Amino acid sequence: MRLEWVQLLEFRNYRTLNWQPSPRLNVLSGPNAQGKTNLLEALGFLVTGRSFRTPRSAEIPRWGTESTTLSGELCRAETHRTVRRGLIRLEDGTWQASGDSSPDWARVIAFGWQDLEIVNGGPAARRNFVDGFAARLQPNHVPTLLRFRRILARRNRLLQQYPHDAGRLAPWTEQFAAVGMELLGRRRKAVAALQTEIARVYAALASPGAKIEVRYVTALGEASEPEALVAALEQRHREEARRGQTLVGPHRDDLAIDLDGIDARAFGSRGQQRLIALALRLAEVLPVTEAAGTAPILLLDDALSELDPAVRTHVMREIQAAEQVFLTTPDVTTANGAAVYHVNGGSVAPA
Ligand SMILES: Nc1ncnc2c1ncn2[C@@H]1O[C@H](COP(=O)(O)OP(=O)(O)OP(=O)(O)O)[C@@H](O)[C@H]1O
Ligand SMILES: [Mg+2]
Repeated sequence: MRLEWVQLLEFRNYRTLNWQPSPRLNVLSGPNAQGKTNLLEALGFLVTGRSFRTPRSAEIPRWGTESTTLSGELCRAETHRTVRRGLIRLEDGTWQASGDSSPDWARVIAFGWQDLEIVNGGPAARRNFVDGFAARLQPNHVPTLLRFRRILARRNRLLQQYPHDAGRLAPWTEQFAAVGMELLGRRRKAVAALQTEIARVYAALASPGAKIEVRYVTALGEASEPEALVAALEQRHREEARRGQTLVGPHRDDLAIDLDGIDARAFGSRGQQRLIALALRLAEVLPVTEAAGTAPILLLDDALSELDPAVRTHVMREIQAAEQVFLTTPDVTTANGAAVYHVNGGSVAPA
């Protein structure tokens, strides 16, 4: 898919912007604090209705304004759809979102500084990564995840309030196990789809011999039936009652990342960790393309930073094979066939 044109009104440091990007690689260059990341955020917001940068809508409208409007045209082959979104400040000071929903084939994969956390942060960052990817494969992953979180919170509350009331807990344990196993199954599928791609992508970006492996790690081993989760919870019941917490389930799982047989989360160099994070995002592209029936738009923020010149060249080669890509960089990068734009104080002009 591609964005044919976009219009921004009062989005972050953009007062007004009318822009027709290239259908392939767009390089957004310019000094710091000029609006490069803001523009990627706007493109992602237009397509998905969410910012990859912040969950707080109040940060998005240009300071001092009462509303933000984004519109643009999304295209897949010969299908064209105009999408419009807005944020309006209500009397009580909160911001209300409005607008169209995107077509069900619209997908964005964003990479940014926050993604380093996938590799060097805690397990929650890796679970979020897997859930985000699973949601791009199957949009109904999100309702399952929300249902799981609600049941988990309810079960934890019961464990705190009535730790020894087995009768009260039993129906929640059952629901927790059913939804938990559904979530686990989707995550396993997502990680399996990622495994082959990450091996190819990482070798293409780093060096042909580089070997990377990602594995979903769960206390439940290979089990896939809810009964296995119920049994595991029963085994830990005394400890659960004492701590007032659900101690087994997908909320405790992790993603192992081994580079040449060594745990990259603990031992990877900074450059290696950044490259793994980028490779994980790029490894999403093919499975998401297959699931959505069209290639996702790639939003790559500062993806070349901290990488050595040889690796940068590999990254440029890999992303030139993708469909529409937006890449920000504070350097002046020239790439074969790329449309290069200069971003300066909330305006975008061909370089
Ligand atoms: N809601 C807002 N309203 C107006 N300006 C904003 C708003 N939010 C952020 N900004 C401005 O946008 C600037 C940052 O823009 P952005 O993050 O896009 O920079 P950048 O070009 O990506 O820079 P870098 O190269 O450092 O990453 C900030 O310095 C801030 O002044
Ligand atoms: Mg930036």
